[in-house]
Amino acid sequence: MHPPERHPGLWSGRYAQRVWVEVAEPGSLEVGEFEAANCTGDMPEGIGALVAVLGGVSSRTDSAGVHHDHDCTLEHPGRLPRTSLRVHSCPVSLPVTIADVEAAAERLASQNPLTPLLRLPGGGAVFAKCENLQRTGTFKFRGAYNKTASLSPEVRARGLVTDSSGNHGQAVAYVASLFGVPAVVAMPRNAVPFKVEQTRRWGAEVVWTGEGSEERTRVARQIAAERGATHIPPFDDELVVAGQGTIGLELVSQLPELETVVVPVGGGGLISGIAAAVKAKLKGVRVVGVEPELAADAKSSLESGQRVTWSAGDAVRTIADGVRTQTIGELNFTLMRELVDEMVTVPEAAILQAMGWLAIEAKLAVEPTGAVSLAAVQTGAVRGSGPTVVILSGGNYAPELMAQVLSQLA
Ligand SMILES: Cc1ncc(COP(=O)(O)O)c(C=O)c1O
Repeated sequence: MHPPERHPGLWSGRYAQRVWVEVAEPGSLEVGEFEAANCTGDMPEGIGALVAVLGGVSSRTDSAGVHHDHDCTLEHPGRLPRTSLRVHSCPVSLPVTIADVEAAAERLASQNPLTPLLRLPGGGAVFAKCENLQRTGTFKFRGAYNKTASLSPEVRARGLVTDSSGNHGQAVAYVASLFGVPAVVAMPRNAVPFKVEQTRRWGAEVVWTGEGSEERTRVARQIAAERGATHIPPFDDELVVAGQGTIGLELVSQLPELETVVVPVGGGGLISGIAAAVKAKLKGVRVVGVEPELAADAKSSLESGQRVTWSAGDAVRTIADGVRTQTIGELNFTLMRELVDEMVTVPEAAILQAMGWLAIEAKLAVEPTGAVSLAAVQTGAVRGSGPTVVILSGGNYAPELMAQVLSQLA
């Protein structure tokens, strides 16, 4: 018998999963054989061990976005040559709920984060949620403010630390300046210079790291521990996700007939927050995540049923620097598995094409990452004819890149 070990895709991590097994061909299965398993959550003993010895598990997201089924085959030498099983799992409860998003909206109310929802030219029912017009130029302000405002004044006064490719760092630096507390931002050396300048402009100290997001996170956590400051994670945090989710609440009141929301995905904070809000408020709404083809770790993660990590070298190839994340967060993965209907990818040329189109046709200045969602609609990667919102998540582009994009269109 194989030694029982945890199956990482099903129940490792900080969110308890309810797991159950359906035996398609009962055979002579003896669950008692496997009782040595070390299980968490509501999983009955024995079944946990049974799942633990499964090999070659594949998964899919079902159309209702609620459960994820794993079709698999148990190979047990001697007793059960081949037994066909279906393994189901879902979280015991979702770690971010509509109540958390509503609490975030109350905290943010004094800051008036509402951004316009504009119908895009071209005759279709495609609307742009203009987070490029948000404070500091991206949606990141929402999560950074919600997390920071939730800290006690004593803890907050010891300062904030974060890790960022540029946009979250600006937001944390700005929020720190609102509260009059110090901030440190760990940033990659290849960050867009405008983003670095803006982060410093809000008074933050910038600490350089390598290009990979995992190294950045390690450095930020270490600085926070050394200085007694609070780490404000860019996406893997309940309060950050709830803050980003306030976009979803705004969408529901700005466009109640909304059918599809298209969201760029890096670490998954933006999409998991928006999904938690719109899915709670609107029946049948579809949430579609978009990644560049060159940084499609979230798509691989959702398809394989476990978080997939891309190498730093691979993840940084895309021009969309806001989504060069090597892997989605654990919290975000839990939420996305339940709430995201589909993940699609777009090529680099389509991202730049969408960025130029927005500038010329819609008079909207958006960075490459902010244009990823529209690129998915323009390439036909996202289908559907009903009212569709693309999240223009940010507008912090390098001026020379915009000049290049526009000159190629001319
Ligand atoms: C402009 C922009 N859009 C989208 C994202 C992706 O957000 P998340 O990491 O929460 O998925 C980022 C992340 O930095 C960003 O800067």
